[in-house]
Amino acid sequence: MSTTIRIASIPGDGIGKDVMVEGIRVLDAAATKFGFRMDWKHFDWSCEYYARHGAMMPADGIDQLRDFDSVYLGAVGFPGVPDHISLWGLLIPIRREFDQYANIRPVYLMPGVKSPLAGREPGSINMMIVRENTEGEYGTQGRFENRGTEDERVIGEATFTRKGVDRILRYAFEQAMTRGRHVTSATKSNGLAITMPYWDERFALMARNYPEVRTDQFHIDILTAQFVRNPDWFDVVVGSNLFGDILSDLAPACAGTIAIAPSANLNPERIHPSMFEPVHGSAPDIAGKGIANPVGQIWAGSMMLDHLGQPEAAAAIMRAIETVLAEGPRTPDVGGKATTVEMGKAIASAL
Ligand code: NAI
Ligand code: MG
Repeated sequence: MSTTIRIASIPGDGIGKDVMVEGIRVLDAAATKFGFRMDWKHFDWSCEYYARHGAMMPADGIDQLRDFDSVYLGAVGFPGVPDHISLWGLLIPIRREFDQYANIRPVYLMPGVKSPLAGREPGSINMMIVRENTEGEYGTQGRFENRGTEDERVIGEATFTRKGVDRILRYAFEQAMTRGRHVTSATKSNGLAITMPYWDERFALMARNYPEVRTDQFHIDILTAQFVRNPDWFDVVVGSNLFGDILSDLAPACAGTIAIAPSANLNPERIHPSMFEPVHGSAPDIAGKGIANPVGQIWAGSMMLDHLGQPEAAAAIMRAIETVLAEGPRTPDVGGKATTVEMGKAIASAL
């Protein structure tokens, strides 16, 4: 009997619904080719769902997802529902409840895609951003003092736990062992005199376990400059929640467009399902026009198959994406005239 992969798909809003169709098309084609089965269950949780039910998902939504191999998400958010409601009502609960502490964004300058940086050839930008996804600078702990007076003081806490820091650093080093054996740490231990020296200390200790891996570290300010000036310097770049967030938008922008960029929210221990999604949002400005680029969704699907033990199918999808980006048909955002469906079908048949 062949392997069956059980996926919860949440297309969400706007172009999420268009690109999800193409993601499923390509993954189904890969399954047929490589001899496994995709078993999809679709969930209509979205801003439309919110309009009908007053919540982004049902109260037992997390439990409904718990037994799937992974969650495949399109994009959520639409005018009419405030973004903090759509985000905190669906995506953040999934990331937190399933302890998806590693947010991974591979960045690769694809053939047929123009980098805004001058003189960059396909493949010359090839890095992976590893962002801590559960603690650090993002949090709700803090206090107001002397509120409403001249002496107002607002204190927001950043929390770095040894477990939280070590597990993301370890994940970054493990990734580097499968890639270019180089890890760069994003820090700011000059200005942030408590948390970031601690981060640096744990980074140095973790590096000792990986003598084969070359390491370096940059303060976040000069690091952003080097992403633009010398993106070819980097292989795996690891950062805290805030620094990783910034770098993981900057890097795909250097490689041309967020429309093709994928993102994985991983629970590396596989106790809970991981979630795979494109980096882009629901793009209300082009929603319903059928011209969204499906590559971010399809690339996220390739990462999902890789995570679920189908590396050959995952690699074949990447080759098909590269072929179609180079030769067309392409959607308008990457210089073509094709529709979402035409591009998705072309990638499926290039498989
Ligand atoms: P966006 O990523 O939806 O759009 C930014 C720009 O990129 C727009 O001009 C859009 O047309 C273009 N674009 C995005 N994806 C594209 C694709 N696949 N093909 C062609 N062009 C593409 O970001 P924006 O406008 O800031 O957010 C729109 C909504 O999406 C908001 O409600 C926001 O909260 C939500 N959002 C959701 C995310 C998620 O589900 N993870 C991530 C980012 C935003
Ligand atoms: Mg961000």
